[in-house]
Amino acid sequence: MQTLAKIIILTGIFPLILLDKSMVEHQNTMNADGDTLFQRYCSPCHSLDFTIIGPKLKGISKNRDRVWLKSFIKNGMQLVKENDSSAVAIFNKFNKVEHPDFSNEISDGEIDKIIFYME
Ligand code: HEC
Repeated sequence: MQTLAKIIILTGIFPLILLDKSMVEHQNTMNADGDTLFQRYCSPCHSLDFTIIGPKLKGISKNRDRVWLKSFIKNGMQLVKENDSSAVAIFNKFNKVEHPDFSNEISDGEIDKIIFYME
């Protein structure tokens, strides 16, 4: 009976521990990759905590809709051209500095990692 109880407990808990470990590892990878990508593509103009040429970006995903955020990162000027009110407002606020077009450089998966890093 005791052995049976142990088997039930172990088979129940062990996969959970593995799942939890792989989720943490996944998050660490996302964060490290996001950091590298951010340093490569964004850090000339952005920091997480200070305004440089562009605004500070820590927690930006709390203020912006995710679909909007992804398309702005991909090609912010496209949104400005389409007269998107949020994009036009931020563009005017930052002296009409044109946002780089990353649509041929950064993949959707990489943008997800950058957003994860900025959270
Ligand atoms: C050449 C400088 C430059 C680079 C490089 C750059 N940005 Fe920007 N970014 C800006 C400026 C300036 C703004 C303000 C809006 C504008 O002028 O287009 C901005 C705005 C933003 C916004 C909108 C912020 C808000 O308040 O809604 C996001 C998000 C953003 N950038 C993300 C990124 C990410 C992520 C990268 C790297 C993949 C990046 N930017 C690379 C200059 C830059």
